[in-house]
Amino acid sequence: MPSLDNLLAAHQKMMRHTRASDLLTDPDQRHRPLDFTLGETLFVDFSKHPVNDETLSLLVQLCRDAGLENKRDAMVSGAPINTAEQRPALHMALRSGPGARAYHADGEPVSQIVHGVLSDIEGFCADVQAGKRKGATGRPFTHVVNIGIGGSDLGPRMVCQALRPYADTGLEVRFVSNVDPSDLEQCLSDLDPAATLFVVASKTFTTQETLTNAEAARHWLNAKLGLDSSDVAASGAHFVAVTAAPDRAKAFGIEASAIFPFWDWVGGRYSLWSAIGLPIALAVGYPRFAELLSGANALDEHFISTPLEENIPALMGALAYYYRNYWDAASHAVLPYDQNLEALPAYLQQLEMESNGKSVTTDAAPVAVRTAPVIWGAAGTNAQHSFFQCLHQGTDTVTMDMMAAANSKAADQGQHKILLANFLAQGQAFLEGQDQARAKSRFLAKGMSEEQAELAAINSQIVGNRPITMMIYPELTPWVLGALIALYEHRVFVQAVLCNINPFDQWGVELGKVLAKEILPALTADKPVTVDPSTQALMDRLKDWQS
Ligand code: F6P
Repeated sequence: MPSLDNLLAAHQKMMRHTRASDLLTDPDQRHRPLDFTLGETLFVDFSKHPVNDETLSLLVQLCRDAGLENKRDAMVSGAPINTAEQRPALHMALRSGPGARAYHADGEPVSQIVHGVLSDIEGFCADVQAGKRKGATGRPFTHVVNIGIGGSDLGPRMVCQALRPYADTGLEVRFVSNVDPSDLEQCLSDLDPAATLFVVASKTFTTQETLTNAEAARHWLNAKLGLDSSDVAASGAHFVAVTAAPDRAKAFGIEASAIFPFWDWVGGRYSLWSAIGLPIALAVGYPRFAELLSGANALDEHFISTPLEENIPALMGALAYYYRNYWDAASHAVLPYDQNLEALPAYLQQLEMESNGKSVTTDAAPVAVRTAPVIWGAAGTNAQHSFFQCLHQGTDTVTMDMMAAANSKAADQGQHKILLANFLAQGQAFLEGQDQARAKSRFLAKGMSEEQAELAAINSQIVGNRPITMMIYPELTPWVLGALIALYEHRVFVQAVLCNINPFDQWGVELGKVLAKEILPALTADKPVTVDPSTQALMDRLKDWQS
């Protein structure tokens, strides 16, 4: 009997010449609908994919054979599925409210501590918002600066941007992540130090970029407020920490009562639901942060209890694996038709590429399949005027997600309809393309000569049949956003299961960190360091050019 791998390869060969536009009108090929709705608010449409009933049953079989249901249940049960680090991955516990599903880490209940920290966050946000929490000079806070990087930055940054129409707490939240001093300098340049609160966000509290920026922020504050710079407590009222290493935050000089904890069973890139979401709650108010959690929880419950045939993240993850491995799709574009979601591609880059950019299986063997694709993207319609040309007529298969809200929070709904017309038009163009004959008749109708029309038609032929998932929702509310992010988290998990890799570690980023620490003394104190000749030449040139 042929293996599932062989069946999928043979199936792809057949489907390669099948057009999704034909499948849409052929009930014999597709008995099951390919669109799904979560809670009447998130509509996910796979119908523009060149897949038929057989594709779906093969993909569901693939998930079953890979043990997806058991592995998902192991994640829910708090088993140490992060095998390399022997930890559970319990981000779902962070959004399971009181009375909802109870989660355990290593057999110990976690719901109570999760809800305890959330209630501390709620109280803290209320105090800051009401001006009860004050800075060193007695002024209430008007600005919040989150200092963090990677998972301690990208999630809350993306959500704050996505929910900016809801940012009515009177607190302006900014983000600093890069160790490049320009990032902090620019952020602080117009801020009033007496009214600025810093959130130092770091799971490990060892990250060079974050600690360097936090130290620099403290110097800035002390200098501006005329505080004693050797006294870390002097500016203490302006600093809170979010971390899974509270002792290190204390050693940094942050008061114990100003430390919001989370736990080692929360992966950095899965942490926006934890205290790492503090800047979100400060920007949009705690009740909306709670709505975000509840949207994610609804998606979790769907993932946990829906049969694979109807399970949105399972199908999405299986399709992603299928295109990566059988269609040679090396990249995946995320195209929000929603300016407020402009940061979503950057957030998803870490989520997917740091999770699944791996070459070793969970059994420590070389991986035999293709793992994470390159994730990229930009907001429509801007992207239409930059890289859509390549998506329509380029030679590679790029899979795509497009998303849009029926209603905008902006006042001009007329302009929003232009955005939606483009969203729908692009979806149709990716599906149908444009054949030569149709293009030629358009050019002839415009009055071109036969010869000119023939040439123009060859160049404007668009193959179409691009694999695209379209998602729509009534409005980008906190609930919808929570569900959307959780959908991507589980999609990444499904792909990891199908590749048999651990999505919850990230050893690949360590080497660069170690080498940077070795190289730094050579730049700051001329200490000798052993590097390759190319790096040495660059270092010498940089030093020559330093003023
Ligand atoms: O360098 C990668 C990484 O470890 C990410 O996984 C993490 O989100 C980021 O650094 C920041 O880490 P921390 O929150 O510990 O400062």
